[in-house]
Formats: sequence, structure tokens, C-alpha cells
Amino acid sequence: MNSGSRFYVTTPIYYVNDIPHIGHAYTTIAADILARYNRLKGNEVFFLTGTDEHGQKVEKAAKEKGKTPKEHADIMVENFKGLWKKLNVSNDAFIRTTDTEHIKTVQGLMQMLFDRGEIEKRSYAGWYCVPDERFWTEKDLIEGNCPDCGRHVEQIKEENYFFLMSKYQDRLIDYIEKNSDYILPETRKNEVLGFLKNNTLGDLCISRPKQRLAWGIPLPFDDNFVTYVWFDALVNYFSATRYLVEENLKFQISNFKSTTDWWPANHHIIGKDILTTHAVYWSTMLMALNDIEPDKYRLPVNIFAHGWWTVDGKKMSKSIGNVVDPNEMIDKYGVDAFRYFLFREVPFGLDGDFSEDALIRRINTDLANDLGNLLSRFLTMAEKYFDGKIEIVDSSGDFAQECVKANESINKEDFWLRLQFNLILESVWNIVGAANNHIAQKEPWKLVKSDPDELKAVLFNIWNALRLSALAVSPFMPDAAEKIWTQIGLRSLTDETRENQEIFDWSWKPAYEIKTAKGEQLFPRIEKKEEKQKPEQKKEKPKMTEGVKELIAIDDFAKVELRVGKIVAAEKVEKSEKLLKLKVDIGTEERQIVAGIAKAYTPDDLTGKKIVVVTNLKPAKLMGIESHGMLLAATDEEGNMSILALDREVKQGARVK
Ligand code: ME8
Repeated sequence: MNSGSRFYVTTPIYYVNDIPHIGHAYTTIAADILARYNRLKGNEVFFLTGTDEHGQKVEKAAKEKGKTPKEHADIMVENFKGLWKKLNVSNDAFIRTTDTEHIKTVQGLMQMLFDRGEIEKRSYAGWYCVPDERFWTEKDLIEGNCPDCGRHVEQIKEENYFFLMSKYQDRLIDYIEKNSDYILPETRKNEVLGFLKNNTLGDLCISRPKQRLAWGIPLPFDDNFVTYVWFDALVNYFSATRYLVEENLKFQISNFKSTTDWWPANHHIIGKDILTTHAVYWSTMLMALNDIEPDKYRLPVNIFAHGWWTVDGKKMSKSIGNVVDPNEMIDKYGVDAFRYFLFREVPFGLDGDFSEDALIRRINTDLANDLGNLLSRFLTMAEKYFDGKIEIVDSSGDFAQECVKANESINKEDFWLRLQFNLILESVWNIVGAANNHIAQKEPWKLVKSDPDELKAVLFNIWNALRLSALAVSPFMPDAAEKIWTQIGLRSLTDETRENQEIFDWSWKPAYEIKTAKGEQLFPRIEKKEEKQKPEQKKEKPKMTEGVKELIAIDDFAKVELRVGKIVAAEKVEKSEKLLKLKVDIGTEERQIVAGIAKAYTPDDLTGKKIVVVTNLKPAKLMGIESHGMLLAATDEEGNMSILALDREVKQGARVK
């Protein structure tokens, strides 16, 4: 990646019908990190995101709202545009598949393929689920029904257009094998190769009859059909380079030439859910086009399929109610902390589990304790000892070497080409950690009198470590980085860096005087969630757990009084196989409780045990014996039973909550 190169990065174009959540945010921030890093490195960048607006779902949702599909899409697209702004996403362009120029490009490419005999009309028989409006093959069906909704399916025969994808199978295998970074991470590449080597690739149906779906792009060679996902959607990556680059980059790039071709993309960043469509459909479409006009439709340099986020261990879903709204996270924790967390917590490529507790932990340790503290300690010392003026000195020694080494990792080309964001961030924290240790070892407060020159050197070294850290975190946390930069007395991270690539080196020295300017605390610690939630703040939507039918408020739960009780005596209830009569000390009194646990416990098993008792239950009679409370026990489907006993010493009467 030489400075001055052209760098083109894309995200998937998201279905306009969904409300964006952390999954969408994740992919888009990843692309943003790459775009920002490349801009800092002096490259010319085009960063594209957008929305996928054709298809049945949009058509249906619009109809329900009494709107045209385009009117509906115009409203929904704002959810994405608004979130990207709030997330500090620096996309250069936003493509919509309803853009006239995109539609023209799709039609142009289709016509080319059709003229070359790469697209054919065929009769197609399949099983159709009417309510879902979806075709299935015989082997998809589950007990003869729709695998999605379980309803009856009808056999339908209709004509459609097919892209002759099957003939590219061997070429694609060969291409992927020869270009080891084409599909990343490695595991995903192997997955695609495994699929291609063990299956016969079919041809790809790329049309729908207009009478069944009108909301698509009309086929240029047959007006009775439209195309939509995927032929429509995948082409966005190419079509944007035909009409959106010039419009958006002309004023940003000083020597912009409209003749420069921005295709192919350096990275298509996607989630693992759409790997096949990109690695197989898109690659073979481009191979076919490339055969017609060599070199114009080259394959992208890389397709990177990242992992999947779950929330508190569960798949995000509207019905469970656990979909995380990034807007809410930004409002609560700040945009930089949220962006940082997503890329530090989980190696890019693997699946991750999101929880606010984990986010808070990262904020408090990495951001508040490590980086935030380093900055504030440095600024305090700089002001106290030198009135904020940092003298530039020559620096070498162990600490400098440690920083130089970590800085090499941060800018390691391989990390950036293979999107190993967490390793890059780990290297930044090596610098931060080393700087905190350096302060502890050097004890600058002792040097004030004993060795003022050494004090100057220590402060300059810490300043330099902070400078490189700010630069390195800037693609991840652009606002925070810019603030660190100015607080340590520099001018503008983005502008200065673009103008001067030596700024990435430890040995760079500013040509102007450095005067620190302590500002707001960048990463305040977050108090634990439970402490923070005051009653008036508890406006969150109830989050359903799978299998739970109705949610109760905490106040409802608080009505149940649970206490620790000690069983002081137990005996069988006559003529009952199930019941035992217990005497339980609940701290303030002894209660008689009748419990249905005789099949699992003998009276001897129980005496002396500490258990959990519901103490405010209305008295009831069981086989004529009064019971003043209930003990808690669990029983599984096979009838195994266990009473809830305590695993360490707590006095009887203690409240359980
Ligand atoms: O598939 N974890 O759009 P889409 C991580 N329009 N990433 C997630 C995620 C999760 N739980 N959920 C969604 C489409 N994503 C097509 C794409 S491209 C030519 C057409 C992210 O709105 C991830 O990037 O369903 C995934 O690939 C994408 O959203 C799917 O977005």
C-alpha cells in the first residue's frame, strides 16, 4: 500500500426495510476504519455504502403503508444515513439501487451478457410458498412443506432467465487457489473452496415474472421480467464507480482525473451470511463480463467475510426483542467507545457476543484506566513542571525502542491487508502500557529536583507515545484521537498527517512549539449498570428471553419474599408418597411447611440443610396439614429433583433477591 495509491472499499448495501442494528454498524465501521487509515496514509480513497431497495419485502411493506415502494424506501433510507452520520462514518458516497444510473448500468451489463449467450431463458419448476412468496427446490422442503414457515407449498412451473454460472466452477476454484488473499479470513476461503469442490454449481436464476414481482429492474431484453437481488444488488459495487466517484471525489482530490478507473474494489467487507453470493455469484458474473471486455471487470482484490454478533448469547431477533440499537449505545457510552469495543473485543472474522457489561469493562479498563489515565497524568505533569511547554529532545533507550517496535506492528501492512484490527489495537495498548510503566519506573515527581534534564526527556517520551497512540487509534476513534492530538499541543491530526507521512514515525518532530492544553476528560469511568439505573431512567423496552411468555417488572418480583430457612425437623406425611412435613427456622420464627419432595429426599437427608423459602405465601392445606410457606426446588423433564440449597454459610432469615 504505497502512499498515493487508489483505495476503494465497500460495505454490503443493506435492505432498506430493516432498521439498522449493531450488525450493520459493525460492517460499516470496519469499512470506515480502513477508509480513514488509508486517507491518513495519503491514499486516494473511495468508500461506498448504500441500500438495497428492490424486491418483494419492500413492495409489500410499502403497500401496507399505502405508499409506493420508492416513497417507502425514501423514508427508510434515512435510518441508515442518520446512523452513519451519528457513528462518524466517513463514506464518500451512498448508493441506492433505485438510482437511475445504477439501473442503467445493471441493464447495460445484462444486455452484454445476454448478447453473448451468457444468459438464457429456461422453464423452471419449483415448489412455491404462496404466503412467503418464495421458491424452494425439492430438497429444501421439510416433510413436503415450506422450510421457513412450515406451510403448504405448490408446484409452479414458470419461465425465467438464468445466468450460466455453472461453467465457471473450475475457473473460480483455480482463481481462489491462486489468489490466497481473495477470500479472507482463511477459514471462509476454505469454506468456499470446500463448497465448490464438493458440489456441482448450478446456473443462477436472475429474474422474476413481472406479474409476480413488479418492484425490480426491468430486463432490457424482455419487458415481462424484472431482476432484483442479487444481480441488481451486487452490480452496485461496479456501477458506483461509473457515476458516484466523480460526483463525490472531484472536489476532495486535488489531482482528480475523471478518466481514472476506480474498479476493482480493494475490499468488499461483508458478513459471513452473504459470502456465497459474493464469492461465487459476483466473482463468476465478473468473469463472464471480463471475457467480453478484458480487464474492465476485474475481480475485487479481496472479499472479507466477518463473523456474526449475538447478544447476551442469543441471535438478535425482533421477536426475542434483543436487537441492539446502535443509537442507544452511542447515547449511553459515546460513539468512540462503541466503535472501539466492537473491534477490540473480537478478532475481525470471528463471531462475537455483545453485552453492555463487556462494553463497560472495556471502557473502564482500556479507555479510562489505561489511555485516559495516561493522558491526564501526562497533562497534569506537563502543566505542573513546564507550564505545558514540551521541549523536543532526542530520544532513544529501551522505552523508545519498545514504542518503535509496537508502532511498526500498528502500521504492519499485513495486519491492514488482512484486517487484523484487534492485533493493531493490541499493539497500541502495548505503547500505552509501556508509557504507564515508564512513568511508574521513572517517577518524574522525584526528578524535578534531582535531574531536570531527565524529567524533560521522560515527558517528551510520554508525549511521543501519546502522539503515536492517538494517530493509531484515530481510524477507530476519530473524535477522541483528534482531541488527544490537540490536548498534547498538536494542530490537526488529519490535516498534518495527510501532508506529512513522516508523522507516523517515532522520530518525527513538529516544527512548531508544543504547548499542551488540558481539556475535558475523554473517557469517564462508567459506574456499574445496576448502580446507574435510577427508576426514572428505566425506560428501556422489555427484553424478552426465549421461552419466556410474559415479562414482569422488578417491582412485581419484589413482591415475592424469599428468605433463607434452616430445616430443623422433617417427617413423612402419612398416606402420602410425595409429601414431607418440615419445620423450618426462618430467623424470626419456626414455620411448618409441607413440601412435595418425598420421592427425592428422605427426612434424614434434609435436617440441618439451609434452603430458600417463599415466606409471604398465603397458608394452604395439603392432605389436611397447614403449610405456611413454600420451599424452592427444581424438577426436570425426567423427574430429577433438587431443592435450592445454599453453597456457603448465610444466616437463616437472610433475604434472597
Ligand atoms: O444481505 N452480525 O442486506 P442485509 C454481524 N441486501 N453482521 C451483521 C449482523 C450480525 N448479527 N446482521 C447483519 C443484505 N449484519 C443484502 C446485501 S450486498 C450486494 C447485498 C451485516 O440488510 C453483515 O454485514 O441483510 C451482513 O452481511 C449484512 O449486515 C446483511 O445486511
